[in-house]
Amino acid sequence: MSGDKLIIAVDGPAGAGKSTIAKKIAKILEIEYIDTGAMYRALTLKVIKNGIDSKDSESILKLMESTSICFKDNKIYLDGTRVDKEIRENIINNNVSNVAKIREVREEMVSMQRELSKSNNIIMDGRDIGTVVLPNANFKFFITASVEERAKRRHKELIEKGEKNISYKQVLAEIQKRDKIDSTREVAPLRKSFDSYEIDTTNKTVEECVDEIITIMGGR
Ligand code: DC
Repeated sequence: MSGDKLIIAVDGPAGAGKSTIAKKIAKILEIEYIDTGAMYRALTLKVIKNGIDSKDSESILKLMESTSICFKDNKIYLDGTRVDKEIRENIINNNVSNVAKIREVREEMVSMQRELSKSNNIIMDGRDIGTVVLPNANFKFFITASVEERAKRRHKELIEKGEKNISYKQVLAEIQKRDKIDSTREVAPLRKSFDSYEIDTTNKTVEECVDEIITIMGGR
């Protein structure tokens, strides 16, 4: 347990609903929400903007030395500029897993994430929060859904954002590829920790999932 503070860890694969659910829980419990995927995405955005290949770890590490990533009012800033919209583009979806598997990148991000968890009650979502970043969290949740359902949600999101030429099949293949990289990488792969509650969101509404989590936490 984490003393008097409330620390909630949320992990799971892409498109399972982690951030939507975690944001709602944060609002209900009046605690801070931290989206760790956004941090990996912000670095990936800089990598792409600099014309660097997402597999070129040497150049990425060099770039990271002169990079600042921080949150202000729940919005993510890269080198002082707000980038919360740009980091959701499909080019970032398709490169972020390569950047996130670099050991030194993870070390830097994990240390920032632990620092962020020190001052407030928080709910943090990602892939390694319950296993690596905050192993002493008061509550851990592993949020999942079938790969078809996750692809359906991501496809809808992309279409709504204006990426009209993308097919469901393409999104499904991209998600499967990301799942594979995230769960088979050498450092901190995505996996359910033994002490986390699994929530399958496949046939549930967001509200049902939120209620389930609040009930598990004893209605806090
Ligand atoms: O949750 P998301 O889709 O925004 O995450 C983007 C990528 O970042 C995902 O492919 C895996 C990686 N990630 C990670 O490795 N560890 C985290 N704690 C959060 C995200």
